[in-house]
Amino acid sequence: MLKPLVIKLSILSLGLSCLLSQAQALSSPLKFPLSRRTHSTNTLTKRWSKNKSHATQKNVSGLVPLLENKALQEYAISVSVGTPPKEFLLVLDTGSSDTWVPSSICTPKAGCPSDRRFNPSESSTYVHTRLDYQAGYLTAQVNGSYFNDTITVGNFTLDNQFLFLVNDQTGSLADQTSDILLDGVFGAGLPGSSTLSNNRNETFLTIPMELYARGLIPEPLFSVFLGQAKESAWSGEIIFGAVDQERAASRITYIDVAQFQAPNGYVYFNNWFSLASQIEVGSNYIEAEEDTSLPFLFDTGTDALVLPTDLADKVVQSLAPDAIKNDTVYNVDCSYLGNTRPFRIIFPGSQFTTVKQSKNLNVTLEVPVNKMVTRLGSTCQLIIETNDDSYPIIGNLFLRHFITVFNFEDYTIGLAPAKQ
Ligand SMILES: *[C@@H]1O[C@H](CO)[C@@H](O)[C@H](O)[C@H]1NC(C)=O
Ligand SMILES: *[C@@H]1O[C@H](CO)[C@@H](O)[C@H](O)[C@H]1NC(C)=O
Ligand SMILES: *[C@@H]1O[C@H](CO)[C@@H](O)[C@H](O)[C@H]1NC(C)=O
Ligand SMILES: *[C@@H]1O[C@H](CO)[C@@H](O)[C@H](O)[C@H]1NC(C)=O
Ligand SMILES: *[C@@H]1O[C@H](CO)[C@@H](O)[C@H](O)[C@H]1NC(C)=O
Ligand SMILES: *[C@@H]1O[C@H](CO)[C@@H](O)[C@H](O)[C@H]1NC(C)=O
Ligand SMILES: *[C@@H]1O[C@H](CO)[C@@H](O)[C@H](O)[C@H]1NC(C)=O
Ligand SMILES: *[C@@H]1O[C@H](CO)[C@@H](O)[C@H](O)[C@H]1NC(C)=O
Repeated sequence: MLKPLVIKLSILSLGLSCLLSQAQALSSPLKFPLSRRTHSTNTLTKRWSKNKSHATQKNVSGLVPLLENKALQEYAISVSVGTPPKEFLLVLDTGSSDTWVPSSICTPKAGCPSDRRFNPSESSTYVHTRLDYQAGYLTAQVNGSYFNDTITVGNFTLDNQFLFLVNDQTGSLADQTSDILLDGVFGAGLPGSSTLSNNRNETFLTIPMELYARGLIPEPLFSVFLGQAKESAWSGEIIFGAVDQERAASRITYIDVAQFQAPNGYVYFNNWFSLASQIEVGSNYIEAEEDTSLPFLFDTGTDALVLPTDLADKVVQSLAPDAIKNDTVYNVDCSYLGNTRPFRIIFPGSQFTTVKQSKNLNVTLEVPVNKMVTRLGSTCQLIIETNDDSYPIIGNLFLRHFITVFNFEDYTIGLAPAKQ
C-alpha cells in the first residue's frame, strides 16, 4: 500500500540563511543581494580550466537511474563509497553541495534510521581531513566531518573525492516512514553553498565537477529528468556530461545562474539560482513587491514550489481563489484537477550560454493548473508551500514536468518541457 503523498519541504542548504543572517540589513526575505550577471563579473565563471583531453571516454554512459519513492516525492541516487565499496541511497539534491553518508556511530538513536552506515576503519582508501562541521537543511541538522575516499556513481569511479561523514542528525532529510530509507545526500549544488564555503570560504569540486575535471565526461554539465513513478520504482534519470534531447518536447533553452553578493561585497555563484522576471496565471500578471526580484533555486531536493507568504497568497488568489489555507499549504477543491489554465514562471534568456539562442528570448516554464494540484485521498492540495525563511524554490513536483540541464562552466540552466 502506498502512503498518501506528503507535501513536505525537505532540503535546503543552511548556507543561505547563514549568509542572510550575516546580512542584517535584509529586512524582507524577498530583498535578496542576488544580482543578474553582467559581463564585467563574468570572469568569475572560469574558476577552473577546461581539460582539452575531454571526451576520451565518450562511450561510457553517464546515465544513472533515479529512484522516486512515490510516497515521499523524493528522488534518490545509488552510490558506493570506500574500498571495498559500500552502497548507499542518497537524496539527489541540487539545492545543497555536500555529499554525505552516515557513519557507523550514526545509529537510529543518533538520528540515522537506515542500517547502511560507513565505517572509516573498514575502508582502505579512507582519508581523514580533520575538518569537523555542522551542516543544516530546512528540515535537518547534521554534525560530521569531511573525509576523502573513493566514490562510485553509475559507471564512474572517483578516487580521493571530498565527502562528508555524518555522526548525528536531528530532524530528518526526508520523510523516513516508508519501506525505502534514504541514507544521506548527494550534493549536486554549486560549491558556493557548501558547508566548507560557509565556514571557511574555501571551495572544492562537487562530484559532477570532478567527473568533468578528471576528463571522465565530455561536457561540463549534468541533466536531470525526474518523471513520475506509477508505483514506488525507479523513475527518472540524471545524465552526467550529456543531455538526452529525446526526452525533451522542444528545444532546450538556457537561463543564467544569478550571482550572490556576500556582505563584504564579494560576488560569487552560491547555488543554482536564477532570477525570474514574471509569474503569470492565465492572463493575470502577479505583481511582486516593487524593487524585488524573484530568485528561484532549482532544487531537486525539495518537493514543493516554495514561495514567501505574500507572493504565494497572490499567486493562489489568481490560481484558485477559493483555496483554503492550512498553515503553509493550500487545500483546493479536486475540480482543479480538471483546470487547464496555464501557470507560468518566466525567466530572461541567457546572455552567457555557449549554446546558440536568441539574445532577447524569454524562457517560460508553463504547466496547466491541474499539474499544480495533487490528490491526498479524497482531498486536494496545491503544490505551493509558503516559507518566509527561505528563498523561492522550484522543487521536484514542478521540475518533473521539465528536462533540466545544469551547466557549471557557463553557469546556465537549460530547460525544456519533458515529453509526456
Ligand atoms: C564508441 O562508439 C562508436 C559508435 O557508437 C564506435 O564506432 C567506437 O568504436 C566506440 N569507441 C570505443 C572506444 O569503444
Ligand atoms: C554503464 O551504465 C549503464 C546503465 O547504467 C549500463 O547499461 C552499461 O552497461 C554501463 N557500462 C558502460 C561501459 O557504459
Ligand atoms: C581531499 O580532497 C580535496 C579536494 O579534492 C583535496 O584538495 C585534498 O588534497 C584531499 N586531501 C587529501 C589528504 O588527499
Ligand atoms: C552538533 O554539535 C553541536 C556542538 O557540539 C551541538 O550543539 C549540536 O546539538 C549538534 N547537532 C546535532 C544535530 O547533534
Ligand atoms: C572569499 O575568498 C575570496 C578569495 O578567494 C575573497 O575575495 C572574498 O572576499 C572572500 N569572501 C568573504 C566573504 O570573505
Ligand atoms: C585531463 O584529463 C586527462 C584524461 O582523462 C587526465 O589524465 C588529466 O589528469 C586531466 N588533466 C587535468 C589538468 O585535470
Ligand atoms: C520578455 O518578458 C518581458 C517581461 O518580463 C517583456 O517586457 C519582454 O517584452 C519580453 N520579451 C520578449 C522577446 O518577448
Ligand atoms: C491542516 O494541516 C494539519 C497539519 O499538516 C493536518 O493535520 C490537518 O489535517 C490539516 N487540516 C485540513 C483541514 O486539511
